[in-house]
Amino acid sequence: MTDYPPAMPFPLAKEIYREQRERLASTMREAFPADSTRHAALLMAGAEVPINSTDCNYLFVQESYFNYAFGLEMPDAMGAVLSSGEGIIFIPRLPEDFATWMGALPTPDSVCAQTGADEVHYVDELAAVLAAKGVHVLEVLQGQNSDSGLAVLEASVPPAWLAQGGTVAGAWLYHALSTQRCYKTAREAEVLRYVCRASSVAHVEVMRTCRPGMSQHQLESTFLHHAYYHGGCRKVSYTCICATGHHGATLHYPQNDAPVVDGQMALLDMGGNYHGYAADITCSFPVNGRFTPTQRVIYDAVLEAHDRVLRAVRPGVSWVDMHRLAIRTTCEHLIRADVLRGDVDTLMEKEVMQFFQPHGLGHLLGLDVHDVGGYLADCPARPTQKDCCKLRTARVLDKGFYVTIEPGCYFNHVLLTKALADPQYACHLNEEKIRGTYWNFGGVRIESDVLITEDGAINFTLVPRTVEEIEATMAGQAFHKEVETYKNVVQ
Ligand code: GLY
Ligand code: MN
Ligand code: MN
Repeated sequence: MTDYPPAMPFPLAKEIYREQRERLASTMREAFPADSTRHAALLMAGAEVPINSTDCNYLFVQESYFNYAFGLEMPDAMGAVLSSGEGIIFIPRLPEDFATWMGALPTPDSVCAQTGADEVHYVDELAAVLAAKGVHVLEVLQGQNSDSGLAVLEASVPPAWLAQGGTVAGAWLYHALSTQRCYKTAREAEVLRYVCRASSVAHVEVMRTCRPGMSQHQLESTFLHHAYYHGGCRKVSYTCICATGHHGATLHYPQNDAPVVDGQMALLDMGGNYHGYAADITCSFPVNGRFTPTQRVIYDAVLEAHDRVLRAVRPGVSWVDMHRLAIRTTCEHLIRADVLRGDVDTLMEKEVMQFFQPHGLGHLLGLDVHDVGGYLADCPARPTQKDCCKLRTARVLDKGFYVTIEPGCYFNHVLLTKALADPQYACHLNEEKIRGTYWNFGGVRIESDVLITEDGAINFTLVPRTVEEIEATMAGQAFHKEVETYKNVVQ
């Protein structure tokens, strides 16, 4: 049995959210130096989502900006942050029989004690309470998620607020809070480290117990059980991707229902979620526990890409440059293995790696698995080249950023068929080798969760990575790893 982390206390320390509110208040004071006390940020909790038209709901997932500021799991609440740093929660008035079906009715006192908010009132008191605090302008979230294109949840200001002459503004909060969420505090880093560790342990259990003859769903089930039972993670951060064989070439393969066949690679992308904070980890390994030389070629290529980036990331480094470093490294290996033909500079110039790694190097990670802040107005725009246009951010890294590093190499039939049919790319592809050896290989992705520090990075991911570590773990040897700290010099 692997050495399990003890569950962190439920709920998380109230100081996490108090600190986050105070940081937002400090930005508010800078943004509105003449009259900051007239402004308050207003955030809204998520709503329950019913299953079809029934009175059953999906497991509730709190809206991330609200969760970030208040750490409260309740639907339909609202929260205001004043420029003084005061945090005021407004809870819905629930019908009496809520207590019969769902548990004790929340009251201002109980929610105040639970969250450490400065004050708690009912939603229908919002206009009067904020007016009495001298607030005139409610700053609400208005923005668009740069991965999904969906609008973020804008607080519905109660009509009474407008009726009494209060105003609403949407120009400031989205940028301010999204920027702030990119810079993790030490307290947040502790939680992220915890959820990454709990998820790593669950991955190791899957790796240890994986055998040919199982079904992909059993790999998923093993992960979910360990992440929840031992790690306290009731939710995962995204649908588990349990691909084996050719399914590994489908980036977000969702079915997880095929047999696990001897001789295949597994690509398992799974991450637990702890009070909203996400892990996002991918392990790739041979399902029978022993790499073939053919599997090793691709695995070593991706591992070197992953490791080179880990040894290069630090504040001041461009994420686009890190992406190029990764795909160039994989490209060099593919040339050496005679999968690709030509010199690496030509292949990079012709953007050939778009067919082998059709996704970005990684993304910001936090309360959302593809976290906010990737393409804010004052950040570099999305690159247009075909081998890096899928990047979820093009930012220059900074201390406190938390990112995934997840290079991959895939043999995706749709992409390869397209490349092989186009003479400008086909002349660089060894079609015989690709079709003869790798057509049904699937893919390899190696994904770690990494905190950017003052002079490098800390990798929170604690899973077997080298061929030797994976083979030993799958042969039954105990596995133990501590977080690795990288001090990286400017390249
Ligand atoms: N699990 C989704 C991703 O790696 O981005
Ligand atoms: Mn990821
Ligand atoms: Mn992932």
